[in-house]
Amino acid sequence: MKAIAYFSYGGPEVMVLADVPVPVLPPRHGLVKIQAASINPVDWKLRSGQLKLITGRKFPRIMGADLAGTLVELRGDGNGLKAGDAVCGFAYPADPPGSLAEYCAVPLDRLAPVPAGLTLLEAAALPLVGVTAHTALFKLGQLKSGQSILVNGAAGGVGHVAVQMARGAGATVTATCRTGAMEFVKGLGANVVIDYGAQDILASSVLFDTILDTSGRLPFRKARRIMKPNGVFLDPDLKFQNIPFGLVGKRYRPVMADVRRAGIETLSTMVAAGTLKPVVGEVFDLSEALAAITAVEQGRSVVGKTVIKI
Ligand SMILES: NC(=O)c1ccc[n+]([C@@H]2O[C@H](COP(=O)([O-])OP(=O)(O)OC[C@H]3O[C@@H](n4cnc5c(N)ncnc54)[C@H](OP(=O)(O)O)[C@@H]3O)[C@@H](O)[C@H]2O)c1
Repeated sequence: MKAIAYFSYGGPEVMVLADVPVPVLPPRHGLVKIQAASINPVDWKLRSGQLKLITGRKFPRIMGADLAGTLVELRGDGNGLKAGDAVCGFAYPADPPGSLAEYCAVPLDRLAPVPAGLTLLEAAALPLVGVTAHTALFKLGQLKSGQSILVNGAAGGVGHVAVQMARGAGATVTATCRTGAMEFVKGLGANVVIDYGAQDILASSVLFDTILDTSGRLPFRKARRIMKPNGVFLDPDLKFQNIPFGLVGKRYRPVMADVRRAGIETLSTMVAAGTLKPVVGEVFDLSEALAAITAVEQGRSVVGKTVIKI
């Protein structure tokens, strides 16, 4: 099968469009014929070897985690899922992992039915960013109606779903993005939209109950000055130097997504309620994926998600 694979850790240059074997199906996994896969920063963080103590030295590895497609075979209890179902989910920890391929053997507890009303392209855009935003806002941030939240970096993957979820929960949302994405972010429902290139959010006179920083560029130390006394700072871009903040006090909260079926089903409920819709900003074929991933990794801005059609 065709896949975007790599045979050693490294930069974009180690990725190739390769022919690799269709995965053998281990117990408790389902074989998915992938029709769409979205790209996430974690894909190149893993490929760079940042987490090689966990990911090991077995190659080839395949890029991509989020997926949507058709479940063609199951080995184990699918908890209601059956061959032929349209599913979406998350391709870790599969062996070999990776959704930018024609097939992937995915742990059955990481697959869920495609949310009603979403296309496969939209379904592939949702799992990781959706579960990350939901975990951050509601499990860690305990966001409530009437509270104020800053979503710093609101036009990207996590940000654009976080804005929708926070508005759906009745919070007042201040969102930052680049100039060209301001209309997009207003359309997501943000109450106040700030161009991060034109205005320093740290000069805000508004104090926030919650800050979600998707950019990884807002230092917690400085952000404290625009947080209410009990405000929390939610950080999905886990940085080594921030670990001490998480150990002392409860205001800095590292965000770790747990992409399992129950999390995706919670997102499905929001989609059904009309409070959440993932936005597919651009679509490429598998043959264009190397260039598309490299461009996004090197800083090309996207609104919503980049999805690869397979
Ligand atoms: N821990 C977990 O489980 C987990 C799960 C998912 C994601 N993450 C991490 O969360 C982070 C965000 O992921 P993502 O998928 O949302 O990435 P993304 O789509 O690249 O979004 C990042 C956003 O930050 C914005 N940005 C860049 N510089 C900025 C600045 N100075 N001020 C304000 N905004 C700025 C970008 O806007 P422009 O494009 O306009 O510059 C972009 O919209 C990544 O580090 C990712 O690895 C962690």
